[in-house]
Amino acid sequence: MVAAKSYDKAYLRGRWFEGRLGGLCATGWQWVVCDARGCKKLGVNRDVPWPVSPRTQVLGAENISFHPDDLNNFQTFGCYFQALGKITIGKGTYIAPNVGIITGNHDPMDPDKRLPPQPVMLGEKCWIGMNSVVLPGVTLGPHTVVGAGAVVTKSFPEGYCVIAGNPARMIRKLDINHE
Ligand SMILES: CC(C)(COP(=O)(O)OP(=O)(O)OC[C@H]1O[C@@H](n2cnc3c(N)ncnc32)[C@H](O)[C@@H]1OP(=O)(O)O)[C@@H](O)C(=O)NCCC(=O)NCCS
Repeated sequence: MVAAKSYDKAYLRGRWFEGRLGGLCATGWQWVVCDARGCKKLGVNRDVPWPVSPRTQVLGAENISFHPDDLNNFQTFGCYFQALGKITIGKGTYIAPNVGIITGNHDPMDPDKRLPPQPVMLGEKCWIGMNSVVLPGVTLGPHTVVGAGAVVTKSFPEGYCVIAGNPARMIRKLDINHE
């Protein structure tokens, strides 16, 4: 298990590391080995202290916070976590393949320059559909479902809703009991 040394132990716990033979066969350990090898081979995600698939890209790992139980969100393909600003992923949130979470824009007047980054916050138990893009400064409240292919340009901080389209608009509220 040499590969595990390059990851922070704080991420190597939780539901993905519990399993057969005291966890040694658990999915999380398979990610540790495969991701470390794959990322090294392709030269991607080098500074990320948790297992990330070589088919997904994390930029600015130090600006990303999530619960280790949600490590699965980094095991899919085609995602781009562009954390020039802070990205917060609420516990129990699922992120589908090919999702972009973007915190920083180029300056439209001069693309060689960057505008100041703005944080993205995803609440607890959201579901971000495939091929969607969440743009800088967006906050999604708990239980927000983002439809496949959505471009989320503004915040829906109250959550408990389904949003979809480009630009994303609320298509229905979710009637889930909450305080
Ligand atoms: C959004 C979604 C969850 C469905 O939510 P829903 O509330 O049940 O919506 P409905 O299917 O009842 O559709 C309601 C309206 O929204 C539209 N709509 C549904 N999904 C949409 C989407 N992704 N983009 C744009 N419009 C969408 C429907 O066409 C319908 O429009 P209409 O009222 O004009 O007929 C689903 O369509 C979706 O996009 N799921 C994501 C799947 C995915 O990415 N999976 C990845 C693997 S985890």
